[in-house]
Amino acid sequence: MGVVSGSPASVSASGGGGGGGAADKQAAFAKGLEGVIGGQTGVCSIEQDKLIYRGYEIHDLAEHATFEEVAFLLLEGHKPSPAELARFKAEVVAERALHPAATAFIESAGGWLASGRAVPMDVLRTAVSILGHTDVDCQDNSPSANLRKAKRLLAKIPTIIGHMQCVIDGRAIIGRELGGAPDLDHAANLLYLMTGKRPSKDEAKVMDVSLILYAEHEFNASTFTTRVIAGTLSDMHSAVAGGIGALKGPLHGGANEMAMEMLKEIVKDIGEDGIGSAKVDAWMEQAFVSKRKLMGFGHRVYRNGDHRAGILMGLGKKMAGTLTGTFGGLPALKWFALGEQVQGIMLAKKKIFPNVDFPCGMTYFTMRIPVPQYTPIFVAARITGWAAHISEQHADNRLIRPLSIYTGPALKKWNG
Ligand code: ACO
Repeated sequence: MGVVSGSPASVSASGGGGGGGAADKQAAFAKGLEGVIGGQTGVCSIEQDKLIYRGYEIHDLAEHATFEEVAFLLLEGHKPSPAELARFKAEVVAERALHPAATAFIESAGGWLASGRAVPMDVLRTAVSILGHTDVDCQDNSPSANLRKAKRLLAKIPTIIGHMQCVIDGRAIIGRELGGAPDLDHAANLLYLMTGKRPSKDEAKVMDVSLILYAEHEFNASTFTTRVIAGTLSDMHSAVAGGIGALKGPLHGGANEMAMEMLKEIVKDIGEDGIGSAKVDAWMEQAFVSKRKLMGFGHRVYRNGDHRAGILMGLGKKMAGTLTGTFGGLPALKWFALGEQVQGIMLAKKKIFPNVDFPCGMTYFTMRIPVPQYTPIFVAARITGWAAHISEQHADNRLIRPLSIYTGPALKKWNG
């Protein structure tokens, strides 16, 4: 493809930095780094039959741990004792309020959010950047400073999300002074900051488990992004801002919003009565024919399904069974009936399993959480995994700098 003798690709064969010749490079090339080992980590292991956070399996954590315990596990490296957990929770609660500069920015972003020029993920990314300016430890990459910054970001991201929702709804900011209600746990406080109402026990529990499921996932695109940034010895806020940018995309975290939008689109096209009927098969067939990517399905690593999806589907559906009223015009369980039908067709026709973002869409929707906040809530969880990886990268750093295969024009003279 246009690579000639003397081109950068062949020149690099004799250069340093591990660059091979063009043939070596072609042999080593994997588009999208598929199957490439990008580093070592003690934070998380993804296996086809299990997902492990620092030695604990995800079903075990979802059933027996709280999000704060999992956050401690990821950030401090071991299961907390009761005293350690109490100390950690108090530290995080004390850090929930935002610096006035960050709140002022969020209040100023209402017009951009209303016009659609900015979405909540963009405002969250900028707010995290501003928090960097206000953090006394911003430029310090030592383990202790990184841990302090991680706890502050963990504490403050739900407050950013809540403040954004108040601005979007045109309501007074909730938690300007304290970042919510100090007696509420992390997940419950996140919901409180968004609505001003204390969530039910069930809602708080489902949110807590969803945060556990979203907390960490090894070398996914956003975490890898944070490690690349940290690998230049840049700081945690810069890395997290980059991670938010990577997570926003619909092929990654943005899929939880798109999965729900897709279900809404199906209902719009086939009507409520079409749920459970062959109309769903016909809709899906049309999507297959047009080679449309169905959001919330597929995964680069999992071949037999995403461990997290079944957990969240079960919990979300169980809660939906207790809910009255309608959600986007349908009873809560109807959304899950449609979701299960779509999953079944996807598996039967394409052998593609849902990932965690698929049940997340339905679950958050039937909790009446506005769709554009689903990916920011993913950030509220993943900040723990990102921060653990950033600290791990800083503690044993080597610049992350892969090679590429040149596909540009052949060498020519500027004055030729
Ligand atoms: N819908 C339809 N077809 C799909 C889907 C899907 N969601 N996912 C994979 N496929 C098909 C592809 O079309 C391709 O088929 P082909 O070989 O006939 O061309 C094959 O399966 C392999 O798919 P790739 O896109 O090459 O797989 P890759 O590993 O690159 O992508 C990804 C993984 C990005 C997650 C993909 O499955 C996808 O786009 N899914 C939808 C977005 C999504 O849900 N992302 C969330 C991921 S989980 C997370 O980030 C928390």
